Amino acid sequence: MPVIRAADLAYGRLRSPDLDKQEEFLTAFGMVRAERTPTALYMRGSDAPHHIHVTELGDPKYVGIAFHAASTDDLEKLSRVDGATGVETLDEPGGGKRVRLTDPDGFQVEVIHGMEMLAKIPVMRPPVNTGEDKTQRRNKLYYRGVERGPSHIKRIGHFVVHSPQFEKTLGWYRDIIGLRCSDDVYADSEDNIVGSFNRLDRGDEYVDHHTFFCIRSDKAGLNHLSYEAADIDDIMIGHEHMKQKGYEHFWGIGRHSLGSQVFDYWGDPWGRVHEHWADTDVLNASIPPNLIGRHELNGPWGEPIPAKFMGHAVR
Ligand SMILES: [Fe+2]
Repeated sequence: MPVIRAADLAYGRLRSPDLDKQEEFLTAFGMVRAERTPTALYMRGSDAPHHIHVTELGDPKYVGIAFHAASTDDLEKLSRVDGATGVETLDEPGGGKRVRLTDPDGFQVEVIHGMEMLAKIPVMRPPVNTGEDKTQRRNKLYYRGVERGPSHIKRIGHFVVHSPQFEKTLGWYRDIIGLRCSDDVYADSEDNIVGSFNRLDRGDEYVDHHTFFCIRSDKAGLNHLSYEAADIDDIMIGHEHMKQKGYEHFWGIGRHSLGSQVFDYWGDPWGRVHEHWADTDVLNASIPPNLIGRHELNGPWGEPIPAKFMGHAVR
């Protein structure tokens, strides 16, 4: 039994030497400022959580990841884990209570409860027709007036890390946070697991195919933070915008085989990769883990994974 079963991912926490530049990037990426203090930037999506991305002012760094707990009881349970803080009142915009832990690779893991929820930001997107069914779009030119510009980030989806102590790190997120294996990935022989996709465990409720992907590596660090865009078309819109702004492209556009998301990866000014995705498979807890060969990882379309992205890890 894990200590808790986290309810959701909350935010990634980075450190950057220039909050103006960070905000410019995240705005172009499709987030909206929730709050800015002299020392930190809080960005939100169109969903209700107060923020889904935190940047502290300082030398470039991946500080860590944050989850939402289902209850304050769960925070109490976590506070009894070795090395955890007590339950703290979060002295930051958005508020709530928090326990801080450290994962085996030394990155901070915050588990929070009671973050302020804001009014959702309405995002109007044209419905999608198929060849068989054109009832969705009638008597109106739906894309007339859809403007060029950033994507519309809805929510945070997942995070991916490299770990030199793969089993320990993976075990930690499963045992303490309650993540559940979706797919283990092997290379060459089935006992050589090189990566693992893990999701939230919300029982019968359907959740994204993965919230956490852990990569066996010789280094520790963040590979990417991932955010859901409004839909596939919205990723295309964002792609044009990011390209025009001159940001560094890492991989995409393509569709993954595991999880089925359409993806597009962009680096921020300090090389931290942020992903746009849409259209994921969702699973509930009834589905057992799969073992899948790395050779099956190529999706139905899009270029194969570039080495530049695969080996990418920032501390
Ligand atoms: Fe991803």
